[in-house]
Amino acid sequence: MGWSSWNNFGPDINETLIRDTIDAMEKTGLKGAGYIYVNLDDGWQRYKGARDEHPLEVDPLKFPNGMKAVADYAHSKGFKLGIYSGPGQTTCAGFTGSEGHAEEDAKMFASWGIDHLKYDSCCSHVDAPQAEVQQVMLDMSKSLIATNRSIVFHACHCGWSNVQEWASQEGANQWRIGQDISDDFNYPGNREKYYFDVLDMIDRGNNITQYSGPGHWNDYDMLIVGLDGESKQLVGTGASDLEYRSHFSLWALVNSPLLIGAAIPHLSSFDLKTLTNKEIIALNQDPLGEAATVQWENENKTLQIYARTLADESMAIALLNRGSETKSITVSMREHLTVGWDVYRLRDLWKGKDLGPYDIPYTTEVRSHEVKVYRAWKVACTVGC
Ligand code: GLA
Repeated sequence: MGWSSWNNFGPDINETLIRDTIDAMEKTGLKGAGYIYVNLDDGWQRYKGARDEHPLEVDPLKFPNGMKAVADYAHSKGFKLGIYSGPGQTTCAGFTGSEGHAEEDAKMFASWGIDHLKYDSCCSHVDAPQAEVQQVMLDMSKSLIATNRSIVFHACHCGWSNVQEWASQEGANQWRIGQDISDDFNYPGNREKYYFDVLDMIDRGNNITQYSGPGHWNDYDMLIVGLDGESKQLVGTGASDLEYRSHFSLWALVNSPLLIGAAIPHLSSFDLKTLTNKEIIALNQDPLGEAATVQWENENKTLQIYARTLADESMAIALLNRGSETKSITVSMREHLTVGWDVYRLRDLWKGKDLGPYDIPYTTEVRSHEVKVYRAWKVACTVGC
C-alpha cells in the first residue's frame, strides 16, 4: 500500500513533490491506514535516450540533493521509497534504462536505500521472446537479492506474454495484469489504444486469480480514486465518488497492491474516507491472501456476486451492479457461495453496520455502478461444513 507518481504526474516529478507527498500522507491519515510506499515512477532519471549512450543518473534539476536524501527523508517519517527502471535501452517514457547494467543499478538503488523497484519491460520487450523477458527479469531479481537489502520487486510486463504464469518464479512480488488503467469506471465505447477502465481490468483479472497469493500479487494497476478526470497523464473522463469507491472495493477484494495515483492534496474528504476504510483494507491485507472470484452472475452479466474466504474463516462478499439502474441482488449462502451456512451474520463494511443473524438468503438493492461489501460469519451450520 502506498502512492505512485505516474497516474497524476507522469514524468513531471521532483524532490519537493515527493517530500510534500510524504508530509501530506502523514497528515491526512493515509500513512496510519497503511499507505507507506512512496514510489517514484518514470522521470527521475537525468537523461533521455539509450543506456549505451548515457549513464543512469538522478536528474540534478529535479532532485538536487540526490536520491539518498529523499530515501532518508522517507525513512525518517516511517515511509519506504520506491523507484522505477526497465530492462531496455530506454524506459517507456524514453529515459535511460538498465539494459546490461542490472547488477550495477541494483547496487546503486540499494545504496540509496530504495525499498521497491518497478522494473518495466512493457515497452522495450513487447515483441521479445518470452524466455528473454524472463531472463532480464531474473537478472534484476537476482541482482536485488544479492544486495541483501529487502526490495519489493515489481516485474511490470503489463499483461504481455502471460506474465502471471512465470513472474513469481523469476522472483517478482507483483506484476501488472494489463496495460495502463484509464480514469473511467466503465468507458462507454471502444478506445483506439490499449487502455482499460475499472471493469475491463477486473474482467481481465477474473481468470487468473489463482496466480495471486502472499508475496506474489496480480497488480490491477495504480488506483484512479480522486483523479477526477484531471490527470496529467492518464486518459479518461473521471468517475463519480461512488464509482471510485466501487473501484477501491474491487481492488481490495482481488488483493491488488493499493497504490494511490492522485495528488494527495487533491483528494476530497470522501476520497480519503474511501481510501482509509479499515475494514475494506483488512480484506486486501488478509493473511490468507485469497483473491475474490465471481460466484454468481445474471444472464447478461450486469449483476455479479464476488466472494472469498478470509483467514479467520469468515467470508468477504461483494455485490456489483454494472448496469445503469438500481437492481436488487439476493445472496444465498447455500446456492451462491462455497459455504453451506444455515445461519449467518453480516456486516456492511461501507455502512459500518452489523446485520442479522439470518437463516434465509439476504436481499438488498444495489445502485448503478455500486459495489456493496460485506463480511459474513457463520452462526450455525448443519450439513457439509
Ligand atoms: C508504462 C507503465 C506505466 C508507467 C509508464 C512510465 O506505460 O504501464 O505504469 O510506468 O510506463 O513510462
